Amino acid sequence: MTCPTVILTARWPKPVEAELMSRYDVTLNHDDHPFSTRELQQALRDFDAVCPTVVDPVTAEVIATEPLRCRILANFGVGLNHIDLEAAQSHGITVTNTPGVLTDCTADLAMTLLLMVARRTGEGERLVRAGNWQGWRPTQLLGTKVSGKTLGIIGMGRIGQAMAKRAAHGFGMNIRYYHPRAVDPAILTGMTAEACDSIDEMLPHCDFVSLHCPGGAGNRHLIDARRLHLMPSHCHLINTARGDVVDTQALIQALKEGRIRGAGFDVYENEPHLSPELTRLENVVLLPHLGSATSETREAMGFRVIQNLDAFFSGQSPPDRVV
Ligand code: DGY
Repeated sequence: MTCPTVILTARWPKPVEAELMSRYDVTLNHDDHPFSTRELQQALRDFDAVCPTVVDPVTAEVIATEPLRCRILANFGVGLNHIDLEAAQSHGITVTNTPGVLTDCTADLAMTLLLMVARRTGEGERLVRAGNWQGWRPTQLLGTKVSGKTLGIIGMGRIGQAMAKRAAHGFGMNIRYYHPRAVDPAILTGMTAEACDSIDEMLPHCDFVSLHCPGGAGNRHLIDARRLHLMPSHCHLINTARGDVVDTQALIQALKEGRIRGAGFDVYENEPHLSPELTRLENVVLLPHLGSATSETREAMGFRVIQNLDAFFSGQSPPDRVV
């Protein structure tokens, strides 16, 4: 049997690329440039396996390219809102992702954002770096205490649960959560955690709200102007899920009018093109989609892709098959 051909749309950690090259006929993206639609289509015409990331929109139009050679889209990442799963299925393409291995690091980053925005560390750092810090003052850059406050979690899947553990066990926070399905009570052991019947019911009781639901059409603008209004004016909103879950214009308006106190974001609508208005606000912390960005996690994601490819090309069902 000839060796399957595999293309990576971005540079991956070196140990993973090396391992992949020892098993497959691999084409690397040497200069790490973002693939255009035409390049994605070419990849689907020329390779047995295409390994995209969150920045590659594998739309129905891309998948409709002919003649189609690709048999598996082995995604480097857990979120799949950039891939048209229906189109993949109808063209007989298997789709896999990398769940589990990025849970801890993404929850760590959500907690980082929560602490940063509450304690105004971005503003503090900008003050110091600009050479404008005049010394300690009793009223300088007063933030919000985190310990003991109430955290509302939307989406109590793996990452939401990991966030709840950090907040409850590390900071004594009370947890309220909304999840469309029942959550195993064992996961909540030792926490003060309350399930809410709806997002609307939960929001007015939160000091912080952290988003951990999937992106995509079903959750587009889940947090809109109306729901921002339901949050108390001292509330902070954290988003490490997907940018389209929040209506950015409504968020900017709410922040400007003081209807919520602050926001900590790692993901954006139309990423990486942020609204300039958002970047001018002081009461936001903005990170460049760093959720899973540790060497350990990015390598684990890559090795997980290899497991999926190995299973697929040896005729088994890949462990993380979604379609
Ligand atoms: C994920 O895994 O979905 C992260 O957002 C990076 O793609």
